[in-house]
Amino acid sequence: MIVLGIETSCDETSVAVLDGEGRVLSNVISSQLLAHARYGGVVPEVAARAHLENLPAALEEALTAADVRLEDAGLVAATAGPGLIGALLVGLSAGKALAWARGIPLVGVNHLEGHLFSAFLRPSGEAPLPIAYPFHGLVVSGGHAELVRVEKDRVVPLARTRDDAPGEAFDKIARRAGLGYPGGPVIDRIASRGRGDRFPFPVGRVDGSRDFSFSGLKTAMLRELQKRRIDGSPLDPENLDSELTDLLASFQRAIVTALVSRVDEVHAAEGIRALALSGGVAANTELRATLSAWGAEHGVPVRLPERSYTTDNAAMIAWAGLLRHRRGAVPPVAEVQARSRWPLGS
Ligand code: KG4
Ligand code: ZN
Repeated sequence: MIVLGIETSCDETSVAVLDGEGRVLSNVISSQLLAHARYGGVVPEVAARAHLENLPAALEEALTAADVRLEDAGLVAATAGPGLIGALLVGLSAGKALAWARGIPLVGVNHLEGHLFSAFLRPSGEAPLPIAYPFHGLVVSGGHAELVRVEKDRVVPLARTRDDAPGEAFDKIARRAGLGYPGGPVIDRIASRGRGDRFPFPVGRVDGSRDFSFSGLKTAMLRELQKRRIDGSPLDPENLDSELTDLLASFQRAIVTALVSRVDEVHAAEGIRALALSGGVAANTELRATLSAWGAEHGVPVRLPERSYTTDNAAMIAWAGLLRHRRGAVPPVAEVQARSRWPLGS
């Protein structure tokens, strides 16, 4: 069976082709970064229009790269939420039209569930890693921080962010520091040259709960930038003074520490058999290294996603759709609706 995946929840237009075993045959990602860069963030209306323009070409390219025809597809998986409603509607409507026209099933995929299983996908052409339940998942992106337990038939939320997502914090700080958008990759690079222990930032906690909070850290960091008269005028990331370099490294360290310490608490409370990291922030070098070291120390296998599957992509949507289809009970095409809000586990 050939699975067609479509992702348009935010600012990447992506189409992927997988085989029935979950091998990625193609994964085309058309980024809208340039369209949004001058606004310092994603503009919903701009995103929806760009998806409309880019989707047909991305579909063609994905089919060609996988060397399959549209008629070969046996299943369509399209992101149905959460995300920008106008953006979601473009990909989901295209998926519905394809499924309807070809008389094949459509799975409306939860974008976060897509991230959740992305750590099991392998490079192009290779079979995915086997999934043993239960496992724990940490999804960290521009919109989310979710720690969950994944059982065979359900996802149990354990902690989520009460305010900013970690990727959002990276993006806001980079913008205010004049380092452009998106902020994660550039701060990641700068931090590798800095001292993360020089400016210890407090890591936010929400009373009596395991939830994350990153807005206090963001505010503290903004204040540090202000003190140094850094006002958002463009800076060259390759030529920062050592103080700012260390400041950014310390900011990243605080985010990584918050995430890993919460994983550690959950492990102490209920035992983690395996941990799957995912989402755009899963590309972060320090987070990957620190979590791997934590896993090695505690005898917990840590699955790190291939970097190409960390930021938004349709391969993970096709994969999550295929897994859902295998579990059965896929509703009729007409019943699948786009949802801007769709918490994991609901
Ligand atoms: O998963 P994603 O593509 O979109 C959402 O679903 O939100 O994640 C994008 C986020 C952005 O905030 C970006 O700054 C962050 O992932 N990101 C990183 C890195 N690469 C991307 N954050 C930290 N380190 C990175 N290397
Ligand atoms: Zn995402």
